[in-house]
Amino acid sequence: MGNELRFDGKVAIVTGAGNGLGRSHALLLASRGAKVVINDLGGSSTGGGRASEAADKVVAEIKAAGGEAVANYDSVEDGTKIVQTALDTWKRLDIVINNAGILRDTSFQKMTEQDWELIYRVHLLGAFRVTQAAWPHLRDQGYGRLLFTASAAGIYGNFGQANYSMAKLGLVGFANTLAIEGRKKNILVNAIAPIAGSRMTETVLPKEVVDALRPEYVSPLAAWLCHEECQETGSLFEVGGGFMAKLRWERTRGKVFKLGRAITPEAVQKSWESITDFTEATHPTDVAAGMQPVMDNLTSQSKGGNEFIDVDAAL
Ligand code: NAI
Repeated sequence: MGNELRFDGKVAIVTGAGNGLGRSHALLLASRGAKVVINDLGGSSTGGGRASEAADKVVAEIKAAGGEAVANYDSVEDGTKIVQTALDTWKRLDIVINNAGILRDTSFQKMTEQDWELIYRVHLLGAFRVTQAAWPHLRDQGYGRLLFTASAAGIYGNFGQANYSMAKLGLVGFANTLAIEGRKKNILVNAIAPIAGSRMTETVLPKEVVDALRPEYVSPLAAWLCHEECQETGSLFEVGGGFMAKLRWERTRGKVFKLGRAITPEAVQKSWESITDFTEATHPTDVAAGMQPVMDNLTSQSKGGNEFIDVDAAL
C-alpha cells in the first residue's frame, strides 16, 4: 500500500507490552517498521511476581514476522532503565506508550493504603519515571510522541476503583500539561481511555464480551496518535470495540455574581438552575479560557468600584 502509515526509522517504547493492549500496540508499530522496546515486568494483574516470558514471547512474535524488537523486564518504576534499553540498542527514541498497569479493585470501605500505593506506583509514578527519562532525548531531537493510558473509571468513576480512578485521571492531567510544555519541541502528547478484552478485564466481563473486544480494535488509534503526520495533542479519546471518540470539558454558562458584597449560600441556592444548566454551554480548552468569566467579572466590577460589603456583617 503506497499510503500506508509507516514508522520506519522510529524507535518506540511500549510499557506493559507482554500482554493485552500493550502487546497489540507493539505488534502494530513493529509491523509498520518501528523498532520496539517490549517492556514487561511479567507479574500478575494485581502486581505480584515477575517473569521474563511475557516480554520474550512478544519479541519472538515480532522477530518471526520480520520486525525488530528488544525485551526489557524492568518495572516502569525503573523508567530510566527502560529508556536506556532503547538508547543502548538503537541510539534513539521517538515514541513512548505508557500502558503498563495493574488492578487492586475493592470498595473504598475495604481499600488499604497498600492498594492505593501500588496503583499509584505502577500507573502514575511508573509513567512519570519512564517519561522523565525519555523527555530530554525527545526535546533535544525536537520530536516525540507520547501516549498515556487512562480509563473510563477515571473519567466517570467506577465502584471498587477509587485507587485506579485516581491514577487514571491523574495521567490525563499529566498528559495535558506535557502537551503544553512539549508543543514547541514537536513533542505531542495524548491519552486514551480504552476498553478491551484482556486478562485485566476477563474477571469482570463475560467471556463472549472479552473475546469480542479485541485489543486490535484499540491499537490503530494509538498508532495514529504516535505517527509523525498526526498533529493532535493534549486530547483524550475513548476507544474500543470499533468505537473511537474524542472527549472535552463542557461548562455551563454559569452565574456571575456581583462583587463588592458577600455571596450568600442562599444566593447560590437561588441561582442553582443557572449554575447547573448546560443550555448555552461552553467548552474551555485552556486555563486562560477557563478563567475568562472570572477576569471579565473583575474587569466589569472594577469599573464601578469594588469595595467589599459583607451583607451578613452589615445586617
Ligand atoms: P494486561 O494485564 O493484559 O496488560 C498489562 C501489562 O502490564 C501486563 O503484561 C503486566 O505484566 C504489565 N505490567 C504491570 N505492572 C508493570 C510494571 N510495574 N512494569 C512493567 N510492566 C508492568 O492489561 P490491559 O488490559 O492490556 O491493560 C493495559 C493498560 O490499559 C493498563 O494501563 C490498563 O489500566 C489500561 N486499561 C485497560 C482497559 C481494558 O478494558 N482492558 C480499560 C481501561 C484501561
